[in-house]
Amino acid sequence: MSPEIIFISVLLGLAFVVGEAQPIINVLDHGAVGDGKRDDTQGFLKAWDAACLDSRSPTLVIPPGKTFLLSQISFEGPCNSSIHVQVGGNIVAPNKLWTSELVNWISFRNVNNLTIDGSGQIDGQGSIWWDCKNKRTFGISGCNNSRINGLKFINSPGKHLAIHKCSWVHIKGLNIAAPADSPNTDGMYIQNSEHVEVSDTIIGTGDDCIAIGTGSSDVNMTGITCGPGHGISETVACSGIVLESIGIALDPAAKGDRPTSYCLNAQGSKVGEVTPDVSCLE
Ligand SMILES: *[C@@H]1O[C@H](CO)[C@@H](O)[C@H](O)[C@H]1NC(C)=O
Ligand SMILES: *[C@@H]1O[C@H](CO)[C@@H](O)[C@H](O)[C@H]1NC(C)=O
Ligand SMILES: *[C@@H]1O[C@H](CO)[C@@H](O)[C@H](O)[C@H]1NC(C)=O
Ligand SMILES: *[C@@H]1O[C@H](CO)[C@@H](O)[C@H](O)[C@H]1NC(C)=O
Repeated sequence: MSPEIIFISVLLGLAFVVGEAQPIINVLDHGAVGDGKRDDTQGFLKAWDAACLDSRSPTLVIPPGKTFLLSQISFEGPCNSSIHVQVGGNIVAPNKLWTSELVNWISFRNVNNLTIDGSGQIDGQGSIWWDCKNKRTFGISGCNNSRINGLKFINSPGKHLAIHKCSWVHIKGLNIAAPADSPNTDGMYIQNSEHVEVSDTIIGTGDDCIAIGTGSSDVNMTGITCGPGHGISETVACSGIVLESIGIALDPAAKGDRPTSYCLNAQGSKVGEVTPDVSCLE
């Protein structure tokens, strides 16, 4: 190798490092406190604006060891590049009723190439809602190519995770929990979405584990443990549903219904053991 070539390759190496560095945007640097008492909504929104404008595929960091109190919040796209949201800390809803037109407490809207992961817990403080209106904890809508990995969702006012008008969504390793007698606390609700994959997820709530709503297709579920809860239901006009290795177990502590599944106009197939049987799938 001649010295010139070595020189050039070193330069290219440096350019690569500088050009590809993915910025870290920490909510603590944008005014969030994380003491579980002060409202961190504005800090999160400022951090989101910085991330969304960045065209270098930033990581938005919600650091571990803290609890962030958020009011109803909507993270809006489109953004200038893919975004990775790392949820290390916990997020908690206000312990009072919040009112707004929006159905979700936390929404991500029109954000493509979004990855949300980490071991943080998202607590909807839902018990005050369970007698009245049906709000939801977390929703992503209008998106393509999303990943949600590893998070824990508890005690939603209503459905825990709603996927609406999205394509290519990969959900893995979630843990979703609410009391068996909490009303309408579906684990996951997938509507008007296609190419959705849900795997290795544990759901125990008061309503459906996973409900698939109208206009959905190519939805695959593997390794879902469900119970307590009503199982997996498909409502209208869904196709290409594949269930693989689904075990719906009744929580020994839960009294009442056996796990069931039901469907209407759903088409698809079963692979491996699927219990209870979903009769409409081949
Ligand atoms: C983000 O995208 C907008 C619209 O395409 C553009 O005007 C702006 O310069 C971009 N910002 C950055 C930081 O790249
Ligand atoms: C998302 O990824 C696709 C495919 O890699 C790319 O074409 C598109 O520009 C990306 N959009 C954003 C906002 O990152
Ligand atoms: C959506 O994401 C998939 C998977 O990354 C990609 O193949 C496809 O081109 C994207 N579609 C649009 C409209 O961006
Ligand atoms: C669902 O499974 C089918 C059959 O294995 C496969 O062809 C399809 O690509 C999968 N879809 C997703 C979104 O993973």
